[in-house]
Amino acid sequence: MNWNARELEKKFFDFFNEKKHAIIPSASLIPENDPTVLFTTAGMHPLVPYLMGQSHPEGKRLVNNQKCIRTNDIEEVGDPSHLTFFFMMGNWSLGDYFKKEAIEWSFEFLTSKKWLGLDKNKISVTCFEGDSDAPKDEESAGIWESVGIPKERIYFFPKKDNWWGPAGKTGPCGPDTEMFYDTGKEACGKNCKPGCGCGKYFEIWNDVFMQYNKKEDESFESLKQQNVDTGMGLERTTAMLQGKQTVFETELFKPIMDKIAELGKNDSEKSKRIIADHLRSACFILAEGKGIVPSNVEHGYVLRRLIRRSIRHGRLLGIEGKFCRKIAGIIVEIYGEDWPDLKKDSELVYLELDREEDRFSKVIAKGLNRFERLFKEKGKISGEDAFLLYQSFGFPIEMSIELAEEKGVKIDKKVFEIEFQKHQDLSRKSTEGKFKSGLQDNSEQTVRMHTATHLLHAALRKVLGDHVQQKGSNITPERLRFDFSNPEKVSKEQLEQVEKLVNKQIKAGKEVRREEMTLEEAKKSGALAFFGTKYDTGKVSVYSIKGVSKEVCAGPHVKNTKEIGNFRIKKEESVSAGVRRIKAVVE
Ligand code: ALA
Repeated sequence: MNWNARELEKKFFDFFNEKKHAIIPSASLIPENDPTVLFTTAGMHPLVPYLMGQSHPEGKRLVNNQKCIRTNDIEEVGDPSHLTFFFMMGNWSLGDYFKKEAIEWSFEFLTSKKWLGLDKNKISVTCFEGDSDAPKDEESAGIWESVGIPKERIYFFPKKDNWWGPAGKTGPCGPDTEMFYDTGKEACGKNCKPGCGCGKYFEIWNDVFMQYNKKEDESFESLKQQNVDTGMGLERTTAMLQGKQTVFETELFKPIMDKIAELGKNDSEKSKRIIADHLRSACFILAEGKGIVPSNVEHGYVLRRLIRRSIRHGRLLGIEGKFCRKIAGIIVEIYGEDWPDLKKDSELVYLELDREEDRFSKVIAKGLNRFERLFKEKGKISGEDAFLLYQSFGFPIEMSIELAEEKGVKIDKKVFEIEFQKHQDLSRKSTEGKFKSGLQDNSEQTVRMHTATHLLHAALRKVLGDHVQQKGSNITPERLRFDFSNPEKVSKEQLEQVEKLVNKQIKAGKEVRREEMTLEEAKKSGALAFFGTKYDTGKVSVYSIKGVSKEVCAGPHVKNTKEIGNFRIKKEESVSAGVRRIKAVVE
């Protein structure tokens, strides 16, 4: 069969549908109400409350195709398979089936003629070898043997290879079993085995058995329920099924790569891949409808870095003039049908790319000039120099490093970072740290702020008008942050009114009710729902506070508004054109 990604996704959904899994839409790339991560890096982020035991409106068996951003491997992009943005298909058991079904179904989907029809003799698997936190996973190995994978192709590896999660410091995690397909390439040596990067073994799927909760003190406790979280990368598996060596040769990237080649004068596979990957990520981030635009902090910083790195590689290829919009046009063509937000917001995406290109060309001109002068004077570029270039011109550290490398010198990044931290309240390091650290925090304080956010949203609509729509929400145990559409600054008087109104609803001691219904029913009943979804058929949770607020939301919330405490607005500011931000606390 001549596979393409869309057929693969359909097969995956059909298969798990037959096994009674409900299809749920991809959550946003920007986690709602999760202070510890900037982007959704895996399908589990939006599902953490359900892995911990909360009941999911769609039931205990789910299947999805989640948009993910992972930037910790950004330097690897350019090799055959690393991407900063990718789609991860997964099936989920929320305290329902466990290892036996998960492994048997993975095997069936991979090998049955009705599904992918892969040769079972080319499949190898890895399992967790055990340590003081959890035992050797003999059970998974036994199940693999029972379906027909011989012992010689079952490997045991330690935590660093066969354990998944928590995505941060604490939260759900557990041993996993990974599946590899033998590409037929010669083994690179005696020690070549699954996980080896030589290209012989192609990782296709990961079944994670989330049965532990990692605690603050680094110890592990059993979760209330045993869950399954699996992940199959859509781009990689498509490439594998098509017999392609890299994801960039599939229909998901080929037209983008061709366009870049057409625009450039020089050919560099690596630069083409970087541009294709980074601009695809940038397009999807811009089209999230969360008001994220290139900036120097948080999401905006990552977006800026992706776009500027693309532009830089465009220059290496000899592309003249602004080009991001042209590439984005192809990206919208490829993905716009399946991801309508991309099509709907394409003009905004192009505009932001244009703007960033304009800003960056000014930066480059000035920065390059200074870089060359410094280099001529000193014969090297120090970490302090790189910081000054950044601070005076916004000249990215990555560019200084790359330029220095081209000249055969090294910049001490640590020195740059020390300087950076001295001068910035939010350092790049902590931005990166965010990707690696923690998941949802369900502490009481967070729950109180979650409900306060609904009251704030309702109060803003009352005081400012119905044009107010949620654009983003982020809660830490210290504060809540709420982004919303409003054309102008909110006046001091209006803020006071909003604060008063929220406190009035808190004092009134109103019950917070949760119901489950389809998104359509929810919208009909007047519930606010500000997200675009691909599949609108599933059930959602609706939280309502009588006479005040009704919103589609995953929760969790307090039972009664009086649990919230006193609500106080700390700050109101602009995020981007037409989007305002409020920071507030509950005391
Ligand atoms: N969350 C697991 C992974 O990303 C499935 O591999």
